[in-house]
Amino acid sequence: MKVLIVGSGGREHAIAWSVAKSDKADKIYCAPGNAGIGEIAQCVPIGAMEFEKLADFAQKEEIDLTIVGMDDPLVGGIVDVFEERGLRVFGPRKNAAILEGSKAFSKDLMKKYNIPTAAYENFQDPAKALAYLETAKFPIVLKADGLALGKGVLICNTLEEAKAGVKEIMEDKKFGTAGNTMVIEEFMTGREVSVLSFVDGNTIKTMTSAQDHKRAKDGDQGLNTGGMGTFSPSPFYTKEVDDFCQKYIYQATVDAMKAEGRPFKGIIFFGLMLTEEGPKVLEYNARFGDPEAQVVLPRMENDIIEVVESCIDGTLDQVDLKFEDNAAVCVVLASEGYPVKYEKGIPITGFENFKDKDGYYCFHAGTRLDGEQIVTNGGRVLGITAKGKDLKEARKNAYEATNWINFANKYMRHDIGKAIDEA
Ligand code: AMP
Ligand code: GLY
Repeated sequence: MKVLIVGSGGREHAIAWSVAKSDKADKIYCAPGNAGIGEIAQCVPIGAMEFEKLADFAQKEEIDLTIVGMDDPLVGGIVDVFEERGLRVFGPRKNAAILEGSKAFSKDLMKKYNIPTAAYENFQDPAKALAYLETAKFPIVLKADGLALGKGVLICNTLEEAKAGVKEIMEDKKFGTAGNTMVIEEFMTGREVSVLSFVDGNTIKTMTSAQDHKRAKDGDQGLNTGGMGTFSPSPFYTKEVDDFCQKYIYQATVDAMKAEGRPFKGIIFFGLMLTEEGPKVLEYNARFGDPEAQVVLPRMENDIIEVVESCIDGTLDQVDLKFEDNAAVCVVLASEGYPVKYEKGIPITGFENFKDKDGYYCFHAGTRLDGEQIVTNGGRVLGITAKGKDLKEARKNAYEATNWINFANKYMRHDIGKAIDEA
């Protein structure tokens, strides 16, 4: 069959790699893709938000299945456009992608259906938000309602910081219309875990757990980024934690969306905080995580096309989702200066070192071809993933493989997976 993947990051490279392993895939396209994806798929120069053009392409090329990797097109309604044209597509419709697209919506949903999460209030009026803060406990968390590239969350230690945050989000509109509504939320402490799941509208099957490292610098310092590295599984995600989440969070979310007339088909990514009071939902995403996909998909034993099709057809209950009994670590190679200001167009060398190396992967995020040469084209450039029999071995292997690649402004964190030592 012919498969089209929408997106251009490391996550989409991991999805394309997974699709390429399937016997069912005869031809893979990716719009717009990147240099690494171009080695296993045909990249198509159509932007992820150009829904009509993408649907025209899918019709013309007789694409059998489209997999949408990114949040923006999902929240914008790409799935509705494809379905209206009778095209087979994997992802939530617009009315379900709101689970990620609006934090105010997702908080209200959790409250209504008793799904454990931090206490909160939603605000449309900055004056009311400021009045609320006067009597609040600190630290406190401010969240722009809409999509903000993972940067719309401010943790404020003092009233002054919080006041400045309200101004940034609601008045200066630092995140655009995403800040028309703001969530003010209780600050929680604990370990963070990412759990991705396949959902077919009724049934949910969770994948193996992972942990992200969102801050730019070692020791969780510096600005929030899209994610600087991941490991899977999380040693803190115990059987007991899983039992609790299966019982009170996962199926409850799917049932709640159905009860609201917004059945969810696609990926739900649960951002969880393991607090002293038990696991709570930090946020929902309506897609694979990036870089979580780069550690979870290499460990998945199933044929991804079979699983995705079972979600579309409502037969996920018949799928036995299986993951290898090993571990994986992904270290992101970024451009120095990310997430603020960085140079692009710098030549990258060393890709040949990954050839024929089982259990080592070089997923491309921000790369492009300049003639014959692969050059940097973004803040997060590559995701270097390695497997190992356990987390420590996987981490050693991943860091070793980061040395195989070179580019002038290469930057990475050196403590991805440090938490493993505390488990
Ligand atoms: P989110 O986009 O909602 O996942 O938030 C980004 C990051 O901010 C999370 O991964 C957490 O590290 C942090 N965060 C969000 N909400 C809270 C909260 N209520 N308490 C503590 N940290 C939070
Ligand atoms: N790594 C976090 C995310 O994909 O949102």
